[in-house]
Amino acid sequence: MARIVITGANRGIGLALARHYAGRGDQVIAAVRETSEPLSELDVALHQGIDVTDDVSVSAFAGSLGEPVDVLINNAGILLRGGLDDPDWDGMRRQFEVNTLGPLRMTRTLLPHLREGSKVAIVTSRVGSLGDNGSGGNYGYRMSKTAVNMIGVNLSIDLKPKGIPVILLHPGMVRTDMVSAPSAVDPAHSASGLVARIDELTLDNTGRFMHAEGYELPW
Ligand SMILES: NC(=O)c1ccc[n+]([C@@H]2O[C@H](COP(=O)([O-])OP(=O)(O)OC[C@H]3O[C@@H](n4cnc5c(N)ncnc54)[C@H](OP(=O)(O)O)[C@@H]3O)[C@@H](O)[C@H]2O)c1
Repeated sequence: MARIVITGANRGIGLALARHYAGRGDQVIAAVRETSEPLSELDVALHQGIDVTDDVSVSAFAGSLGEPVDVLINNAGILLRGGLDDPDWDGMRRQFEVNTLGPLRMTRTLLPHLREGSKVAIVTSRVGSLGDNGSGGNYGYRMSKTAVNMIGVNLSIDLKPKGIPVILLHPGMVRTDMVSAPSAVDPAHSASGLVARIDELTLDNTGRFMHAEGYELPW
């Protein structure tokens, strides 16, 4: 039984990940700002009041962990839309705080609980890819995800000597509060792909940017 920390586990992709891991018998530690009915119904260890932008709450969370963590999944994120015509400067800064600095803060603070063989996953987005950008727009969200990709690569280098691999994961276009496109897939489908990629993660393939479906994405 592995111990899995998931941020933003109260809804969307994070909730589907919690359900998937709990369903296969792993111990899920759900790090959330506030629980939800479906999360509370799962057999998970619930840690509320954890905001990934807040040092105090993240440190308190780390301090309460006790035993080592096998997998840390930095999933929490926000999307605030905004193009050239309607730049939202505060929104851009906020997305940087949550989507970029949040995973770095959480990973760094939980480092004492990670050991050789532990894994770190960051749920990023394909829209953070420079090479794959064919549609423009959403400056703040795109920049925040491009920057977190750099953090993931940096972490993969810095944590390799400790025996901790890191992966950057695009979940696909997933039907959640964040995205409602008709072509979006079910969160459970995305979660099973994400879990498969994390299961495959080793020091030999650390530092990659992968689609949940199993192929590598351009930077
Ligand atoms: N859905 C997609 O198609 C898609 C595509 C590419 C990438 N992603 C990425 O996948 C991840 C999950 O997205 P989702 O679609 O599941 O979105 P979602 O349903 O909107 O869920 C977002 C989660 O992030 C949490 N969160 C937001 N700000 C937080 C903060 N400051 N501290 C702690 N938790 C915070 C939310 O908690 P609260 O309930 O407390 O707000 C919620 O649990 C995000 O990183 C997103 O960028 C999603």
